[in-house]
Amino acid sequence: MINLILLGLPGAGKGTASEKIVDKYHLTHISTGDMFREAINNETKVGLEAKSYIDKGNLVPDEVTAKLVEERLSQPDIKEGYILDGFPRTTYQAELLVDITKRLNKPLSSVIALEVDESTLVDRLSARYMCKNCGATYNRISKKPKVEGTCDRCGGHDFYQREDDKPEVVKNRLEVNEKMNAPLKDFYKERGLLTVINGEQTPEEVFKDIDAVLSKIK
Ligand code: AP5
Repeated sequence: MINLILLGLPGAGKGTASEKIVDKYHLTHISTGDMFREAINNETKVGLEAKSYIDKGNLVPDEVTAKLVEERLSQPDIKEGYILDGFPRTTYQAELLVDITKRLNKPLSSVIALEVDESTLVDRLSARYMCKNCGATYNRISKKPKVEGTCDRCGGHDFYQREDDKPEVVKNRLEVNEKMNAPLKDFYKERGLLTVINGEQTPEEVFKDIDAVLSKIK
């Protein structure tokens, strides 16, 4: 069982690394951002509340997010372990997660932080686009579909840019998350769980470093 947190600022490559980790280790990928976007699409109560924060690049309140995570972590499909992508984002969420993992008896194995310079983050987010049908992530600079205009995963032809990847929102998103980043890393460093990885490398190199950490846990 590997129970992992991936920390990193918006655009650090958490989602990209998660796909590779899932392929090799079959962990259950839990992305709070994806969960909120699904709730927004389904127009649920949580989705409507989350939208007002996400559209401005602000954080959804800690309790709302933690409740969603606890519900997801309680599901029986988590067999080999989990990756938390985008949670926690504040030290208060990290404290709530301590209680959640105790209640569910699913203790953390490791916390990996992907470090990327702000200028790279801005470039990556402004170049990111998604498949409308399956949500696969692409990048105009670093990850184009194999056949131009056709999604590798589902063959779809419609793509879009996330609202919160537009320049006016990205600035606030980065500011909000940067404030929380150092204290969050300290929280896990003090508990001996943190490994910092250079997220400026290629996705393959990033995964190689992550794999070196995870292979020691198994
Ligand atoms: P969320 O969807 O989690 O957004 P985020 O944290 O801002 O992270 P991203 O998904 O934007 O980036 P990523 O690190 O996954 O990068 P990716 O791999 O796609 O959250 C959205 C919103 O929901 C938040 O702003 C907040 O409002 C709310 N929310 C979520 N969780 C919350 C919480 N815990 N508490 C409160 N609110 C919460 O890569 C980015 C791009 O770069 C892609 O195009 C990719 O192809 C490319 N790329 C990736 N890696 C590399 C590489 N190594 N080299 C070159 N290009 C790369």
